[in-house]
Amino acid sequence: MKHLKLALCGVVLIIGSSLAHAADLKAGKVTWEKLNCASCHGADAKSPIMPAYPILAGQHADFLAHALKAYQRGAAGAPASANVRKNAVMGAFAVQMSKQDVENVSAWLASQPGPLSVRR
Ligand code: HEC
Repeated sequence: MKHLKLALCGVVLIIGSSLAHAADLKAGKVTWEKLNCASCHGADAKSPIMPAYPILAGQHADFLAHALKAYQRGAAGAPASANVRKNAVMGAFAVQMSKQDVENVSAWLASQPGPLSVRR
């Protein structure tokens, strides 16, 4: 019985923590609009104002979140490495986002139709 209770506690903890980190697509769109990301990446996240600016729509969410965290680390002063991106522009935007904002905006971008994803 004790083991069963412990196991149940574990299940509840796992479900609880995954819910807390679940991405919220609507909130991601709000962050995108609030921080005016579209002014460079385009309203549809795939029509950037400069050809050198990356297309974000349809990119994998984990890649986008990794990139945003790397800009945050870079802005915090970490030396450039595979996990740190030194970019003044994106660093300034990334530091305005919480962990949850990063997850949300990444998930929302990944859900947008774009040329980067495989056809579904
Ligand atoms: C002033 C223009 C500008 C704005 C505004 C802007 N970005 Fe960017 N973004 C860039 C540029 C330029 C890069 C490429 C930087 C580099 O070389 O690392 C980039 C890169 C990125 C990347 C990495 C993509 C990849 O494929 O590596 C992500 C993710 C991203 N931006 C998301 C956002 C989000 C989310 C916002 C709003 C909070 C935003 N950007 C606002 C110009 C901008």
